[in-house]
Amino acid sequence: MELVSTHIVLNDDIGVRGNLYGGKLMAWIDDASSAYAREVIKSPNTVTLKVSECLFLKPSKLNNIIKLYCETVKIGITSITVKVEARRCDVTQGDEEVVCTTEVTLVQIDEDGRPCAIKK
Ligand SMILES: CC(C)(COP(=O)(O)OP(=O)(O)OC[C@H]1O[C@@H](n2cnc3c(N)ncnc32)[C@H](O)[C@@H]1OP(=O)(O)O)[C@@H](O)C(=O)NCCC(=O)NCCS
Repeated sequence: MELVSTHIVLNDDIGVRGNLYGGKLMAWIDDASSAYAREVIKSPNTVTLKVSECLFLKPSKLNNIIKLYCETVKIGITSITVKVEARRCDVTQGDEEVVCTTEVTLVQIDEDGRPCAIKK
């Protein structure tokens, strides 16, 4: 998988029980999947169509470093599906642990917001 972005969990990102907000992580996932998909299909004109089951496997805490990795699952006619893994990184040991996984489907759109074919 390709490293797309890195984030540090800050005070404003923390919710109940000291865990990273799920919504914050989902926003990071949205950004990373969009940036990755746009590079793969070489187009800035995508919208997010679908976020599949989002599994929050482990909590992330204040000051944790979260790395987002992406890989292409499928490129269709107008859509691309991207697998995303969020991994908590222990910089002292160099270890990474998956904290969240999902798949995101994005569609390339034209000027009128209609799906348009991805160049291959
Ligand atoms: C994304 C959008 C343009 C798709 O328009 P649409 O007319 O419904 O699209 P289509 O039915 O032609 O399908 C487009 C692609 O999505 C795929 N698709 C449609 N429904 C799907 C689903 N439930 N799961 C996976 N893929 C799906 C189709 O297979 C097609 O892919 P392909 O061309 O690679 O085969 C439209 O739904 C939209 O504008 N949604 C809002 C997007 C948005 O605001 N996102 C949040 C901010 S970025």
